[in-house]
Amino acid sequence: MLAVKQLQKTFGLIHAVRDVSFQVAQGEVLGFLGPNGAGKTTTMRMITGFLPPTAGTAVIMGHDIIHAAIPAKKLIGYLPENAPVYTDMTVWNYLGFIAEIRGFTGRVRTERVQQTIETCRLDTVKHQAIGTLSKGYKQRVCFAQALLHDPPVLIMDEPTDGLDPNQKHIVRTMIRDMAARKAIVISTHILEEVEAICTRVIIIRDGSIVANASPTELKAKSRAHGAVELTVKSVPGDLVAKLERLTSAARVEVHPPQTTGGQMSRVVVYPRPSAAGAAIAAGPAQLAPDILALVKANPGWELVAMKTLEGRLDDVFRELTEPKN
Ligand SMILES: Nc1ncnc2c1ncn2[C@@H]1O[C@H](COP(=O)(O)OP(=O)(O)OP(=O)(O)O)[C@@H](O)[C@H]1O
Ligand SMILES: [Mg+2]
Repeated sequence: MLAVKQLQKTFGLIHAVRDVSFQVAQGEVLGFLGPNGAGKTTTMRMITGFLPPTAGTAVIMGHDIIHAAIPAKKLIGYLPENAPVYTDMTVWNYLGFIAEIRGFTGRVRTERVQQTIETCRLDTVKHQAIGTLSKGYKQRVCFAQALLHDPPVLIMDEPTDGLDPNQKHIVRTMIRDMAARKAIVISTHILEEVEAICTRVIIIRDGSIVANASPTELKAKSRAHGAVELTVKSVPGDLVAKLERLTSAARVEVHPPQTTGGQMSRVVVYPRPSAAGAAIAAGPAQLAPDILALVKANPGWELVAMKTLEGRLDDVFRELTEPKN
């Protein structure tokens, strides 16, 4: 539904976006991640026709945003960064104005506004001037503006920025509920949000894509993926040495209670990557069974919990985007 083709943007000497290409299909929620200044907002502005690209283009359901801007824009809902809205209008009048621009008139226009106000839970503030609303409510008004014409393609720049935890939850649920019928791109700095709603993730750094994969695939690249974490009341003298001797273990890390914030110690055992051609039993999957057997053989170890770690998106994000020096 959305094809982004070799987009580039330079501002004087700044290469804000260098050769960004990707596609989004119906049903996908694409998380667009990257550190501050990576080029997310600039890319979204070009996709939505708000900013002309230096090179490249975006095609929305067959309509080129440069050469067929109006039909393309009809298919897009855009929530820009920092929710720019007319502060002296009331919520009702503003959404009515947007509905008019979108081509709705008469009863349909009123129905659209009413329905969007209900969906975005703005009923209690609909007659209030937008400038007098709290930041979170302003964000929701802008969200409402993006959804009003029920667009098949939604581009949202940090949609939950400034919302309280309840509102974040509501917005995420709304995005998830709409996803099956739409192609959605959201930028965010909240990695738990990515895990909650995104089917795919693109990470950009200095204007270039450095990863394009599902959250699960990305997490699998994390250093901690497949490691086994043990929570123990104390660390017996022989524990680390015995764990280190396992053929399936590469390294053992001990986190004493003061760094875990509780009474317990955490011990993390990292798996030895399976060597090419080695039997599967020697690979990372063998780590947990090996540790269990060791725990059974050592009843003196006071094990409280044991789990296999999935890996963490923020580790992968940092690894891919931190400046190397
Ligand atoms: N109008 C402009 N004129 C000059 N430079 C610009 C302009 N707009 C953006 N930039 C620069 O382009 C780069 C990318 O900015 P952009 O706003 O796209 O980043 P971002 O990934 O959205 O960051 P954030 O996470 O902080 O929102 C930055 O270096 C920014 O300073
Ligand atoms: Mg931005």
